[in-house]
Amino acid sequence: MSSKTLDRSLVLDAVRVTEAAAIASWTMVGRGDEKAADQAAVDAMRNTLNELQIDGEIVIGEGERDEAPMLYIGEKVGAGGGPAIDIALDPLEGTTLAAKAMPNALAVMAWAPKGTLLNAPDTYMDKIACGPGLPPGVIDLDRSPAENVKSVAAAKGVDPSQITVCVLDRPRHAEIIAGVRAVGARVHLITDGDVAGVINTTDPATGIDLYLGSGGAPEGVLACAALKCVGGQFQGRLVFRNGDERARAQRWGITDLDKKYDLHEIVRAEAIFAATGVTWGNLLDGVVYKDGNVHTHTLVMNSSTGTVREVRMKRKV
Ligand code: FBP
Repeated sequence: MSSKTLDRSLVLDAVRVTEAAAIASWTMVGRGDEKAADQAAVDAMRNTLNELQIDGEIVIGEGERDEAPMLYIGEKVGAGGGPAIDIALDPLEGTTLAAKAMPNALAVMAWAPKGTLLNAPDTYMDKIACGPGLPPGVIDLDRSPAENVKSVAAAKGVDPSQITVCVLDRPRHAEIIAGVRAVGARVHLITDGDVAGVINTTDPATGIDLYLGSGGAPEGVLACAALKCVGGQFQGRLVFRNGDERARAQRWGITDLDKKYDLHEIVRAEAIFAATGVTWGNLLDGVVYKDGNVHTHTLVMNSSTGTVREVRMKRKV
């Protein structure tokens, strides 16, 4: 796939899309209504996408057509006349975080050339991730949490007690948490938002070395697009709870249901990743209204140029 598919001018278009979603969902922050916060983000994201000169198709979206009227998987978006792209999006990543005005709610999107993003169904995915600069193979989904901690510690030249692992705070992760603590490492628990959880492994300032646990498969694809831009390692395996979820995967062309995916099998070409903060967090500041302006903070990255930008927008309201 040509690296010209994603022209660098698309970067600013991507920023406009996540900014619009973040500003819209912010109106519902702290109001205890997850659905309304999500819907506001969906409407704004879809409207903005449809103004752009792109020939986009939603690969990771709000769900299947029969359950999501907007931004459903397979929906075509964009005004046309531009590049043919796969779109992965989560207009509001962390709906509960937004509804409760808690940190780290984000509007997130990734673009890649058509046919190059994994059509992950809306199931869970077992995930492991670490940041850049470590030797290939340092993490492996098939190793125990303790083995992965020791392997990352050895690669970083530190004791396992100096390693911090980010995990979603869920009962299903009790064994992972116990395994990590058994070798003396720290567990950084998050209530929601594992896209940010994975990205945090790439920034030494967060102190997070490793991400472990199961979360949404769509969020796994979005996190991989981010790692594609900044480096790092990721492995994921889809987790199916019933026959319906297996059938969904098969409908989207997945034949090997037990496959362990590597980052580059999930995002198979270059990618643009954008995320705008809805509520304040350690990755991004949230939406703020002050001095008659709305302010946003966006992270946007382009894997083909290797650029990472933080964009601060201010607009009169
Ligand atoms: P939503 O924004 O869809 O609520 O997802 C939030 C989230 O925490 C994701 O970041 C994560 O992948 C998933 O939910 C985990 O699912 P569950 O809450 O079922 O454990």
